[in-house]
Amino acid sequence: MADATTVKEKAEQEVRMVDIYVTGKRYKVPEGLTIQTALEYCGYNIIRSCGCRAGFCGACSTIYNFTHDPTIRYGLACQTRVEQDMVITQIPFFPAAQALYNLEDLKPEEGENKLLTLYPDIIICFGCNNCTKTCPQDLEVMEFISDAIRGDIEKVYQKSFDCLMCGLCAARCPQGLQPYNIALAARRLRGAHLTTRSQHNEDRIKEIEKGKFDAAIEKLKKADEAELRRMYAAREIEPAL
Ligand code: FES
Repeated sequence: MADATTVKEKAEQEVRMVDIYVTGKRYKVPEGLTIQTALEYCGYNIIRSCGCRAGFCGACSTIYNFTHDPTIRYGLACQTRVEQDMVITQIPFFPAAQALYNLEDLKPEEGENKLLTLYPDIIICFGCNNCTKTCPQDLEVMEFISDAIRGDIEKVYQKSFDCLMCGLCAARCPQGLQPYNIALAARRLRGAHLTTRSQHNEDRIKEIEKGKFDAAIEKLKKADEAELRRMYAAREIEPAL
């Protein structure tokens, strides 16, 4: 008689399984999966709250706790591994107000705080630190909001550089602030007005505009995967400056 054990059942006999709860429903999944892959193992077809699958895009914000510990935790579903008795809720994109601005019109002048101009509400931050506790990147969010209130664009830039724009800080702010959008404005202002321009970058843009690389790009577009791999392995790597 044919062995009726399915591949999935065999795999489940060989690995330790843990119980997780997805929107209240219990599933058994292999230990070691990320929340994202565990959801797919359970049969969920993830078409929202998922992007790069590598911890960069911030699309997979997830809230979880445990049946024996109600403390709310936050994480990225593509990076956080399932644990026994984990109760999981993914949150969709969190709506947060974003100021409309034209960077060219926002050159920071001495003694002027452009971040306050764009986001005057930031002064109502009362320092609860929920944003910092929520951040899956462990950024000092409340600190860079204080820097924004003081108009220190450089510090906001440095402290928020690893922000993924997942939106969890905004979801948790009792004052309705949007820390990630405020930090994005600071990084843009710095890039547009406070850094020295790179001459070799300007030169390269001019070369691109003049069509210097058009033929090479066309060649790449026509190449099949094997050819692309060969070209990649054989590429000339510029020496570090
Ligand atoms: S899917 Fe992009 S950070 Fe998780």
